[in-house]
Amino acid sequence: MPLPALQKFERKIERQIRLLEARRYLIERKIDRHIRLFEQKRDDISKRIEEQIRQFERRRGTGLDDEVRFLRSWIERPLTTGAVAPSGKILARAMARYVDPSSDGPVVELGPGTGPVTEALVEAGVAPSRLILVEFNSGFCRILRARYPQATVVQGDAYGLRLLLEALLLQPAAAVVSSLPLVTKPVRQRLRLIRDAFDLMLPGAPFVQFTYAVASPLPKQLGGFSAEASERIWMNIPPARVWVYRKAEIRLQRFVKAVK
Ligand SMILES: C[S@@+](CC[C@H](N)C(=O)[O-])C[C@H]1O[C@@H](n2cnc3c(N)ncnc32)[C@H](O)[C@@H]1O
Repeated sequence: MPLPALQKFERKIERQIRLLEARRYLIERKIDRHIRLFEQKRDDISKRIEEQIRQFERRRGTGLDDEVRFLRSWIERPLTTGAVAPSGKILARAMARYVDPSSDGPVVELGPGTGPVTEALVEAGVAPSRLILVEFNSGFCRILRARYPQATVVQGDAYGLRLLLEALLLQPAAAVVSSLPLVTKPVRQRLRLIRDAFDLMLPGAPFVQFTYAVASPLPKQLGGFSAEASERIWMNIPPARVWVYRKAEIRLQRFVKAVK
């Protein structure tokens, strides 16, 4: 190729390269703008999600850590954990309302989990040193010991209540507050539990139980105790009802034995 033609060709190539570079620059700017817009949107969405999580935690009155621990426990042992999330504040307060903070004696809580009902009891005026918390899950027990150092945390099976509390209860309990998933157990076992609880309580003291079920988790006609139910608490997820069972007859066999 003659020299002028070669120079012309080179200039043409250079011009095309400059054009291409200009175009690449424009495309890069456009991509940058899209990335910035995308990042801004992502930040906005993250902020909105964080705010929703905070609102959710405020509404339920529990931290997300508790929710996660609870969910993990439910995945590992669905029938024992009995719920996918800790109870909300409204349900916990409804349960605590049945316990007279000025009564005498320990207050026994069965299946306290991460402690929403415990918190409601303390909030209602029950001194933490009066609390005996019976929980199966060792991880939940660790949390409860850290949160309520004055309470007595017993790791064990609440269905063996009598044996578990024999050495611990020095006087009759003022109330038993249970969140155990009773309906996953045979009726006979449920009845044995409530009768053992009545034996450890003052006459007329309440056995407080919440349930997601429609009917009473304890068959009223078989138990020989009175039963009253709260309104359904729709604000809990899932909606729940609180049942209170009382036995007026004196059945303090353990304490009668102790006196003899
Ligand atoms: C439905 S959750 C309620 C937890 C908490 N009270 C609340 O309201 O969020 C039931 C709790 O009972 C405990 N639990 C189940 N069976 C038990 C048993 N036999 N003895 C002691 N605790 C038990 C579970 O580990 C779980 O913490």
